[in-house]
Amino acid sequence: MKGETILTVDDIHCGYDGVPVIHGLSLTVMEGEIVAMVGGNGAGKSTTMRTIAGLMHPTAGRITFKNDDITRIPAHRIVSMGLSYVPEARRLFSKLSVRQNLEMGAYTTRDRAEINARLDRVFDLFPILKDRANQIAETMSGGEQQMCAIARGLMSAPRLIMLDELSLGLQPSLVDKVLETVVEIRNSGVTVLLVEQLVQESLEIADRGYVIQTGAIVHAGSSSELLASPEVRKAYMGM
Ligand SMILES: Nc1ncnc2c1ncn2[C@@H]1O[C@H](COP(=O)(O)OP(=O)(O)OP(=O)(O)O)[C@@H](O)[C@H]1O
Ligand SMILES: [Mg+2]
Repeated sequence: MKGETILTVDDIHCGYDGVPVIHGLSLTVMEGEIVAMVGGNGAGKSTTMRTIAGLMHPTAGRITFKNDDITRIPAHRIVSMGLSYVPEARRLFSKLSVRQNLEMGAYTTRDRAEINARLDRVFDLFPILKDRANQIAETMSGGEQQMCAIARGLMSAPRLIMLDELSLGLQPSLVDKVLETVVEIRNSGVTVLLVEQLVQESLEIADRGYVIQTGAIVHAGSSSELLASPEVRKAYMGM
């Protein structure tokens, strides 16, 4: 239901090989929102997403999805619970066709009719993928591959989708197109947590935002508050 909390990240700490990277990070996402987590290179955006997705586990803190504690749940089970993650750099199965990539995203179900219904939904959202259904993923343009990666993330029929750095390597006109699609995804009933280095562009489509710096949230607020904040503008928008 709109307005209820769908994701709570509560004071998590995590890192790699004992080196701490995230230092007590908290955030919440409400059902029906687009929330943007923005910040520069190495701030810890992808690490936070990987931790929420269950690909790594925090050393302290707690993550709640809907009403379930998912802090120690493995990644594949988190997907079946309705939380999907589209990692950075659109890792498609490069030798497989678009359709095969999409069907891989539906691995949580074996129901053929359900898989076909999901394919129809993502083809509605990305008509280009329907035309390219039999094309081998690696032969598509960067923008098409990004759409395929998002569509694959939607094939598990998530309640919440996390999108890491959609704009990476895309020309500005395509960035706008992909961000418009994010709004359509939300309008179709899927809550979105977005990670971006493009602070202004992503805040423009988001309801709320968090600014992350060296593993901690340094600013939080509505998108309009953050876009108007002199500190945020100076640090991230070159103004
Ligand atoms: N696999 C890894 N092993 C060791 N350190 C890592 C690993 N991945 C990331 N880090 C370190 O963790 C910190 C946060 O990295 P992370 O990838 O989360 O940042 P980011 O905000 O996503 O950056 P970018 O905008 O460049 O994608 C960085 O200092 C990075 O070097
Ligand atoms: Mg990253």
